[in-house]
Amino acid sequence: MSDKVYIFDTTLRDGEQVPGCRLNTQEKVEVAKKLEGLGVDIIEAGFPVSSPGDFTSVVEISKAVTWPTICALTRAVESDIKIAAEALHFAKRPRIHTGIGTSPYHIKYKFNSTPEEILERAVGCVKYAKKFVEDVQFYAEDAGRTDNEYLARVVEAVIKAGATVVNIPDTTGYCLPSEFGEKIKYLMEHVDGIHKVTIATHCHNDLGMATANTLSGLMNGARQAEVTINGIGERAGNTSLEEVVMILKSHSELNLDTNINSKKIASVSRMVSSMMNMPIQPNKAIVGRNAFAHSSGIHQDGVLKNRESYEIIDPKDVGIDENAIVLTARSGRAALKHRLESLGVNMEKEALDK
Ligand code: KIV
Ligand code: ZN
Repeated sequence: MSDKVYIFDTTLRDGEQVPGCRLNTQEKVEVAKKLEGLGVDIIEAGFPVSSPGDFTSVVEISKAVTWPTICALTRAVESDIKIAAEALHFAKRPRIHTGIGTSPYHIKYKFNSTPEEILERAVGCVKYAKKFVEDVQFYAEDAGRTDNEYLARVVEAVIKAGATVVNIPDTTGYCLPSEFGEKIKYLMEHVDGIHKVTIATHCHNDLGMATANTLSGLMNGARQAEVTINGIGERAGNTSLEEVVMILKSHSELNLDTNINSKKIASVSRMVSSMMNMPIQPNKAIVGRNAFAHSSGIHQDGVLKNRESYEIIDPKDVGIDENAIVLTARSGRAALKHRLESLGVNMEKEALDK
């Protein structure tokens, strides 16, 4: 029996932090409805205190979406939390996502504070959020560069304060997959009460390791993956939803399952790309234009004999009709014959050779 991994989509919050990617409320509602259809469990709809537009979008998404949890981000500041709770008023399943930086960089330079003071603020923000909603998610910003012992103390304290989900972000995309996995394992083994809550991964892609780190976190006990469509997000982006979902689907030996209807991935990906004016790189895993294209003669021949020779995913599983056999200078007889047949031309061997 597989364990469920909750998919938390932050395309409309972290994804929307990309310069030049702003969506209006109506567009955000459209994306949220599409994410609901895809099977996303939690939609992070915005950061209500950050702008009137974000506030209104959280309100309208809360009204429009039926079954996924709707989440709103806050800092560890009471007025942020109060405003987030107001924005979530119409949500059927509201969640407040509050938290604070826990790494030495954040404690010393961002807050000019001490580890003890930060721990107190962490507990305080969770307790305050609990006055408004039952489902409170805490994030330890820059957990990737936070000492594990201190992080464990913070996580234990926020669980005691009532957090239902604890998010361990690698905010700067710094961790190695082994290091990030060990961090999650350390927490699973050293924090009292950790099995009563869900541990989340939230990885950034600054060194191209966001998906690997997310997977390593899941393999060590995390059960919520925070992701965006096409991996869009701050700087080099966030973990891609499509990559995590298809890894778990392709590797059934991991016994981890999601609620995502993978056949809808391609259409959601295209919608987000065009609405946000963010073209997808052609070689992007799963959703890039070339992800299922074969151009060299050896590969084309192999795929035409048996698709699985060079394809680990059936393109239909992500909503793409078929793979592409692209005629290039490196194509051979097999590809040419295939293309001619698809055009209704049946060529005999000699003619084909010629
Ligand atoms: O990257 C990060 O740490 C975040 C938090 C606000 C969850 O986006
Ligand atoms: Zn982030």
